[in-house]
Amino acid sequence: MNLFLDTADIAVLRILADTGLVDGVTTNPSLIAKSGRPMQEVIAEICDLVEGPVSAEVAASDFDGMLAEGRVLASIAANVVIKLPMTNDGLIAARVFAEEGIQTNVTLCFSAGQALLAAKAGATYISPFIGRLDDAGEDGMQLIHDIRAIYDNYAFDTEILAASIRGVEQVEAAAIAGADCATLPPAVFEALFKHPLTETGLELFAADWAQSGQSIL
Ligand code: E4P
Repeated sequence: MNLFLDTADIAVLRILADTGLVDGVTTNPSLIAKSGRPMQEVIAEICDLVEGPVSAEVAASDFDGMLAEGRVLASIAANVVIKLPMTNDGLIAARVFAEEGIQTNVTLCFSAGQALLAAKAGATYISPFIGRLDDAGEDGMQLIHDIRAIYDNYAFDTEILAASIRGVEQVEAAAIAGADCATLPPAVFEALFKHPLTETGLELFAADWAQSGQSIL
């Protein structure tokens, strides 16, 4: 499963990209606004740091606007993926970009039916929002299972990008459910490295090693 970072924070991205484990980045209008910086500048810097797909979301809600904005964003770097809303106009734009060889990420997906439409429109990625579904009292992870089954039934190429992830357990569950990728807030990415038994195990080994008086070098 590919792991993306859900962030527009360049300083944080720089540190985590050094692990070599960041396969791509997703952004959204809220994350860009939080950065307090011009979108084109931020996306260009992210694309310099990460070779994989970098999702940049259009702000327009009409087809012509999405097409115009998408083209500007796609011109920033070859690895920019145009993020489009899960709407009628958004899917028509996804179809046009697919015909032009431009990658797209259809965002704000909350049902298997929406995911089916996005795949038929030729979207490169579909982003089901797990956490927001759970917040609304529904079962976000079931949606990943359902989309996986539909895409496999009809051999759709669209990749399932588990989004709106709140914790490590959701990353694990999305991987088990067969999501192709997951986009993680930086704190969740960092938490993936950790387990309390790893910490205590390391302390114990360090203490025993110190008592042995040995040195490897
Ligand atoms: C995905 O592309 C979105 O940017 C993101 O995962 C939304 O997450 P949130 O529900 O935590 O805002």
